[in-house]
Amino acid sequence: MADAEGLKDADNYGINIPVSKQSYYLKGLEHADWGIKDRMSRIFNKKSGKTVMLAFDHGYIMGPTSGLERIDLSIVPLLEHADSIMCSRGILRSCIPPTFNKPISLRFSAGTTILNELNDECIIDVDEAIRLNASCMAIMVSIGGKYEAKTIRNLVHTADMGNKYGIPTLGVTAVGTELVRDARYLSLATRVCAENGATFVKTYYCEEGFEKVVAACPVPIVIAGGKKLPENEALEVAYKAISDGASGVDMGRNVFQAENPIAMIKAVKAVVHDGLTSIQAFELYNDLK
Ligand code: 5RP
Repeated sequence: MADAEGLKDADNYGINIPVSKQSYYLKGLEHADWGIKDRMSRIFNKKSGKTVMLAFDHGYIMGPTSGLERIDLSIVPLLEHADSIMCSRGILRSCIPPTFNKPISLRFSAGTTILNELNDECIIDVDEAIRLNASCMAIMVSIGGKYEAKTIRNLVHTADMGNKYGIPTLGVTAVGTELVRDARYLSLATRVCAENGATFVKTYYCEEGFEKVVAACPVPIVIAGGKKLPENEALEVAYKAISDGASGVDMGRNVFQAENPIAMIKAVKAVVHDGLTSIQAFELYNDLK
């Protein structure tokens, strides 16, 4: 039986002390549910408001890409330096220690390899995301592609399930060979993702007008690194994207294919979280290397 008598009286009501107003630190998510905010704050550093995600989901479409032949050798040593990782469930279960304890962006759509044009993508089951304790579900969206409607439907369905269980949805804009990665296209693609329920959006950086892409997207944007560039150029892309308002990077090849991947991810983090310029970050890279 719970005690009903002899209890200490509650008398610390803070009368006249205003209730503190809380506001969430990530763009466009003030009205998101608690679970979504909790998971997003695992992915995005609360001090800088930004994230360095390490993407190594390439194998689901490209097979054993350079740098990803042996995840245990190339990626596991990088894990401690990433704020979050993005990978498929197969690699997560087979290669990533469950003691890793950092937020997982789970590759949530599949259906085509590099041997084919993008086609009929499916999504996996939300039960898997819950079982794997995913912090977000990453959905490929092909705006302007032949399977545009199908991939938007996948995004909508994922956002519905994500809202039901408090799991964020990451809209990943795929750019087919026939589409130009300019600000006009990227603004359309990122905005469509946000309007259809993406909690945050991953896209590519473009030299001209990227600040407008970011401004017109009501939720945070992170950029993919794309094909391997010389390290100083990849750091410059990261620097310019952050200067233009990106909330972080979700980089793969430019980290794990770098001459020294650990030095590279540390240099990228210095740009994203500590405000280093690309020149300073490249110096840091060379020092660490
Ligand atoms: C593929 C992806 C990749 O994760 C993404 O492209 C990031 O890797 P990289 O920096 O190598 O481009 O989302 O659809």
